[in-house]
Amino acid sequence: MSVKIGTNKKSQEGSEEAVLFLIKKNSKLDELRLSAEQEDYLKSQIKKEKELVSLGSMDKVCAVAVDYGKKDAIARREAYRKLGASFCSMVNAAEVNTARIIDLSDSKNDWYDVAEGISLSNYQFLKYRKEEEKERNPLETIAVQAKHSSDERMHELNCTVASVFWARDLVNEPVITLDALKLSEEAERMGEKAGIKVEVFNKTKLEALKFGGLLAVNSGSQTPPTFTIMEYKPKKAVNDKPIVLVGKGVVYDTGGLSLKPTSSMDTMKSDMGGAAAVMAAIYGAASMELPVHVVALIPATDNRPGEMAYTPGDVIKMYNGLQVEVLNTDAEGRMILADALAYAAKYDPELVMDFATLTGAAAMAIGQYGIVCMGTAEEKVKQSLKKSGDEVYERLVEFPFWDEYKDLLKSDIADMKNIGGPVGGAITAGKFLEHFTSYPWMHFDIAGPAYIKGNDSYRGKNGTGAAVRFLINYLQNRAKK
Ligand code: BES
Ligand code: MN
Ligand code: ZN
Repeated sequence: MSVKIGTNKKSQEGSEEAVLFLIKKNSKLDELRLSAEQEDYLKSQIKKEKELVSLGSMDKVCAVAVDYGKKDAIARREAYRKLGASFCSMVNAAEVNTARIIDLSDSKNDWYDVAEGISLSNYQFLKYRKEEEKERNPLETIAVQAKHSSDERMHELNCTVASVFWARDLVNEPVITLDALKLSEEAERMGEKAGIKVEVFNKTKLEALKFGGLLAVNSGSQTPPTFTIMEYKPKKAVNDKPIVLVGKGVVYDTGGLSLKPTSSMDTMKSDMGGAAAVMAAIYGAASMELPVHVVALIPATDNRPGEMAYTPGDVIKMYNGLQVEVLNTDAEGRMILADALAYAAKYDPELVMDFATLTGAAAMAIGQYGIVCMGTAEEKVKQSLKKSGDEVYERLVEFPFWDEYKDLLKSDIADMKNIGGPVGGAITAGKFLEHFTSYPWMHFDIAGPAYIKGNDSYRGKNGTGAAVRFLINYLQNRAKK
């Protein structure tokens, strides 16, 4: 259920609200208007340094978040998001539809992070449920009373949450209802809402343009591939050259003829998590009207073992003319990204960033806890990317990108092969992509965080919308320069 966040100074007469006070350890408690019993209880919990204290429902749900001021800025922001997630479950359990945050600590960000944590954890994917209405979270509105809140920041938050929810919806949608064509239609539908120009290349066009990698992966499929171009070009952009985002849009990855076992295939509707991230990010940037020129490129197809499927041993001529020996059809993400990356050069970009659920190796290396990255952008850019990752707690881990890894891609008969050796699988995938870049570039492997089986606080479970908040944060910071 999506929530609307706003500055709502007064509570409405007779409406049921859940209230969360943000206080400091030494705050005076009289403003909370607690009963003597509640106050004693709160004091005892403060002694134990409890961060979120629930005061039960006397007349409404009431909880207090206490700041002990011990954490560094990054950990603190994350702690408040998680606190928001805990509060969200209390509110929904009490079947209340409005949550009010009353910030008595005059914090700059805490109220924002709590509101973000609440709204992100209120997400549900119920469209295939018979009892949809019954299961729907009651929470609908978050009202904020905070010294540092503003309509602008509320708007930012609403746009960010809407973007993350869209990405999650896309990832959670199965391939039977979201094939490559549908994914492109989704881009068109949302693009229109936000003032983004959307163009879709169909199969005929892709054949004419010789998108060899994308067409090869699609050759076992009954549904055609698409290549979607979303462009958001505001009048007063801070950048002369666009930032280009590329997202892996494998709407389903069976592995192709190099078929995956069922246990690795069952979550592979999520293999368009990179596409979802860049689509949602450009949507977020446009709905916030950020003064940044952004382009998103989405190569999309399913990867299946059809009669005409590309086969191990095939040599494929890519969009940029390089010839690739395919030794594993399950290394399909790099095949479709390569064409998109080569195409990106047309924009003479300031920076190209690709996002992909690319390798099991990246997921094995760091799990769901961060984003693996590597690339050729200059150090200053990498630093600002890492700063964004920290701010939203989608932390970046930069992998080595030494040229020795490139040697692992040498083919006996073609310019390169599509798989490396037994080590550094995430890196050789990145090195493969590097062949198709000719501009400052970063590659982000989100195979770990994009789709999770268990519940992880405000990230929810299943599609998480990984990298959306990271990208929006980066574009927001870029807009300020
Ligand atoms: N989509 C998968 C990567 C993946 C694995 C994403 C697990 C999310 C969770 C990708 O297309 C793939 O199959 N990669 C292979 C590459 C290998 C054949 C070189 C892999 O990682 O095993
Ligand atoms: Mn694969
Ligand atoms: Zn894949």
